[in-house]
Amino acid sequence: MALAMLLLFAFSLGSLSYSRPEAFEKRNSCDLLCTCNKIAEAISGASQVYFPLSSDYLSDISHAASSSTEASACSVEPGCAEDLSKILRILGSTRTPFAVKGSGHATNPGFSSTTGVQIAMSRFNETNVNFKSGTVEVGAGLSWDKVYAKLESTGLNVVGGRIPGVGVGGLTLGGGYSLLTSQYGLTVDNVAGFELVLPNGTITNVTSNDDDLWFGLRGGLNNFGIVTKFILKSYPQSDIWGGFYYYAENQLDAIKEALFNYQLKSDPKAAVGVSLTYSSGQFSVVVPFFYDAPSPSDVFDELLAIPTIGGNVSRHSFLDFIESLGPPFSFNGLRVFYDGAPVTQYSPAVFDVFVNQIKLWGPHLYALDKNTTVSTTLEPFDKGLFSHGSGSAYPPDRSHAIFPSVLTVEWSNASLDETMACALRNMSDAIRTAALADGQNVSHAAKYVNYALFSTPLKDMYGGDVERLRKIRAAIDTDDVMGLAGGFKF
Ligand SMILES: Cc1cc2nc3c(=O)[nH]c(=O)nc-3n(C[C@H](O)[C@H](O)[C@H](O)COP(=O)(O)OP(=O)(O)OC[C@H]3O[C@@H](n4cnc5c(N)ncnc54)[C@H](O)[C@@H]3O)c2cc1C
Ligand SMILES: *[C@@H]1O[C@H](CO)[C@@H](O)[C@H](O)[C@H]1NC(C)=O
Ligand SMILES: *[C@@H]1O[C@H](CO)[C@@H](O)[C@H](O)[C@H]1NC(C)=O
Ligand SMILES: *[C@@H]1O[C@H](CO)[C@@H](O)[C@H](O)[C@H]1NC(C)=O
Ligand SMILES: *[C@@H]1O[C@H](CO)[C@@H](O)[C@H](O)[C@H]1NC(C)=O
Ligand SMILES: *[C@@H]1O[C@H](CO)[C@@H](O)[C@H](O)[C@H]1NC(C)=O
Ligand SMILES: *[C@@H]1O[C@H](CO)[C@@H](O)[C@H](O)[C@H]1NC(C)=O
Ligand SMILES: *[C@@H]1O[C@H](CO)[C@@H](O)[C@H](O)[C@H]1NC(C)=O
Ligand SMILES: *[C@@H]1O[C@H](CO)[C@@H](O)[C@H](O)[C@H]1NC(C)=O
Repeated sequence: MALAMLLLFAFSLGSLSYSRPEAFEKRNSCDLLCTCNKIAEAISGASQVYFPLSSDYLSDISHAASSSTEASACSVEPGCAEDLSKILRILGSTRTPFAVKGSGHATNPGFSSTTGVQIAMSRFNETNVNFKSGTVEVGAGLSWDKVYAKLESTGLNVVGGRIPGVGVGGLTLGGGYSLLTSQYGLTVDNVAGFELVLPNGTITNVTSNDDDLWFGLRGGLNNFGIVTKFILKSYPQSDIWGGFYYYAENQLDAIKEALFNYQLKSDPKAAVGVSLTYSSGQFSVVVPFFYDAPSPSDVFDELLAIPTIGGNVSRHSFLDFIESLGPPFSFNGLRVFYDGAPVTQYSPAVFDVFVNQIKLWGPHLYALDKNTTVSTTLEPFDKGLFSHGSGSAYPPDRSHAIFPSVLTVEWSNASLDETMACALRNMSDAIRTAALADGQNVSHAAKYVNYALFSTPLKDMYGGDVERLRKIRAAIDTDDVMGLAGGFKF
């Protein structure tokens, strides 16, 4: 484990160049070291600064995608909002580049990593149920599987991530697509409040009574400060039904038809996807199924009638189901980029283009690096998925359904980064072109913030709200403190 971390560290050194705040160029290592020491002197015993190459430092800078890991000058684990406030004030006054890491699953380099000061939120790890208000207070350093584990015995659940290891912090602040989204909306639609350290260090609570910050925080990522705690709405959770089936390639036409017919129905307890993957020179098809009851309605019947080559579905507790997906997800040391390909419907014509793009780019990129995997997941939701919440930074338009669709490229040779980013842009463009040709209103359909590749223009994610969001940030962050951290910036 320690060896793997060291290798990861050595591998990532000097290999990243995206989203690095400009201020870095003007600094030298003494400045950074001085800042680290200043922070160490200011914080209480609840918090701690770590230096290379201690094991705490290595876990603080580590990310699921190796391309998202950078060697920072030091790392700091704040243990309370008051210390985080002091840290943010020091970073602001010294103009030191920094990063905020929830659980480190961002696939954009520099979004939660830095060569300056790495803030790791791991000590904000409490899950507390308030049975009276029916809300759950969740620390910003947790991953969703840990939250589900804590809730298991209460019979309650929250609307969060689908894969073990993915963080509460980034997923919630970007929007949040869940297995329960067709029923209850996005994760941002199920936030009742935030505890936030503002860019100037002031600690505050943000609720629906706060017009601008309430709007901005729900989708605006790390633009408005650092969240320490999320208050989430909860729902009763029964046993569920779910699992995966694997299919031979010659079943694609049947899956395409069945997926199309599935989208004509409305059953908000159902969730399904189609994952198309090119890996190790092979194309494969997997369909994840989920139903929020011990056994499903007839909504999956047509899909379930298609012959499989493996897999299983069965009744589980919600936690068992999530844990059956494996240990906290990492990409085994590979580099990873995501991009989004929003569509309003997986029609047969659009489905074909998703398949063709994977089959076109899979072999092409595999020829350049044998560790390449190219994949996508088609994820239809109920047409009413955006009707469960009020105006928020993401999604910019709640008037009609958009299915986010993630495109993924994994590889190992760092000299191929630009090639991979280009390929993703090309795939995403090809899918938008196909959806337009299919009559879908997607010329301005928003890309999901947590899938969008680093080069995505703000208006492609936030639509007509970019100006409003710029004004909110200008008012809240007069000294551009959050501009010292990477990520999409208003
Ligand atoms: C395997 C995998 C599965 C996924 N599944 C889903 C899914 O089911 N649904 C879905 O919607 N998305 C999913 N995603 C996308 C996911 O939402 C993003 O990767 C998200 O960034 C993960 O959050 P994190 O805390 O782990 O990320 P991090 O890399 O730690 O953070 C991401 C961004 O959020 C900021 N941030 C994090 N915490 C805070 C905070 N407390 N205050 C201020 N800013 C903060 C960071 O600075 C950074 O800009 C998945 C991603 C992966 C890799
Ligand atoms: C939270 O973190 C603290 C300090 O890192 C640790 O002692 C504690 O066991 C953790 N609690 C949970 C619930 O994981
Ligand atoms: C935020 O709300 C909590 C209760 O949920 C309260 O204890 C705390 O004092 C509030 N903080 C501020 C800064 O108002
Ligand atoms: C599938 O089968 C395996 C092995 O029997 C089991 O461990 C797993 O939990 C099952 N998964 C689901 C989702 O039913
Ligand atoms: C693929 O990964 C393996 C193991 O991580 C590594 O040894 C090899 O060099 C990689 N291949 C390429 C082409 O980078
Ligand atoms: C990485 O790619 C470069 C050029 O694209 C090539 O020269 C180099 O040999 C590759 N490295 C490995 C380990 O395959
Ligand atoms: C990307 O797509 C365009 C068409 O949209 C095509 O002309 C171009 O050749 C593609 N780029 C690559 C590298 O294949
Ligand atoms: C098309 O989508 C845009 C937003 O992306 C929206 O403003 C417009 O109203 C939509 N048009 C129709 C006809 O639905
Ligand atoms: C910090 O910023 C907030 C929001 O803009 C503001 O209300 C507050 O007065 C500021 N605090 C200080 C100490 O400047």
